[in-house]
Amino acid sequence: MEIRIFETEAGVDKAAADYVAARITEKKGFVLGLPTGGTPEGMYAKLVDKVNKGELSFKGITTFNLDEYAGYKGDEPQAYLRFMKEHLFDHVDIEEGAYNVPNMSGDTTEKEATYGYENKIAGKGGIDLMVLGMGGNGHIGFNEPGTPFGLGVHRVELTEKTRQDNSRFFASIDDVPTAAITMGIRSIMNCRSLIMIVKGSAKAKVLAQALSGPVTEDIPASVLQLHPQAIIFADKEAASCL
Ligand code: F6R
Repeated sequence: MEIRIFETEAGVDKAAADYVAARITEKKGFVLGLPTGGTPEGMYAKLVDKVNKGELSFKGITTFNLDEYAGYKGDEPQAYLRFMKEHLFDHVDIEEGAYNVPNMSGDTTEKEATYGYENKIAGKGGIDLMVLGMGGNGHIGFNEPGTPFGLGVHRVELTEKTRQDNSRFFASIDDVPTAAITMGIRSIMNCRSLIMIVKGSAKAKVLAQALSGPVTEDIPASVLQLHPQAIIFADKEAASCL
């Protein structure tokens, strides 16, 4: 595992965007995995800049997002699909239907939302590069501490900690959904390469545990130690306990 440390958050955003931009042009039909959250916003802004300047194109690229709240159609203010449209998809030349976000709304059954999503990823030949953020308790996707490493795409009940962390995007904690559909650790480890972006001192301790402690389901991000092609992009605050 490689760790790249940058002075500032902006430095992380630029480096991550440059890395993703270089990778997605490396082969035709590149398949990219994407996260939502505060962490990747800066990287998405830089990718949009590159497209606007004519330096990058998303034509021919397929994307798969990590997760979505269960029951969300995608147009709710906090929906991850809406986030992705606002931060990336509506501002780049990605083709209609080429971006995918898990969906378990309306009549969609849990099986369709989980196995269906997994089959769609497999149908595209798997994910070439997955971009991850990390939660304050070491979660990746919505894989909370204690989630078995063997799970593929699945429905998950959210922990109180994650609901608290995410409540900043809602009017109150009561409005935060209690369940989500997420790629599991098995889905993440199946990606051919991964980057994880981590910023800020609040995540420093858990990042150090994840990267230098034992590989344990108690700290989901620690599994990245076992991935042959994983790079961590961190600012110096997040890296301060390494
Ligand atoms: C979001 C996701 C989550 C976030 C994590 C960090 O799609 O998969 O694991 O990456 O909760 O969130 P932020 O970046 O808001 O600190």
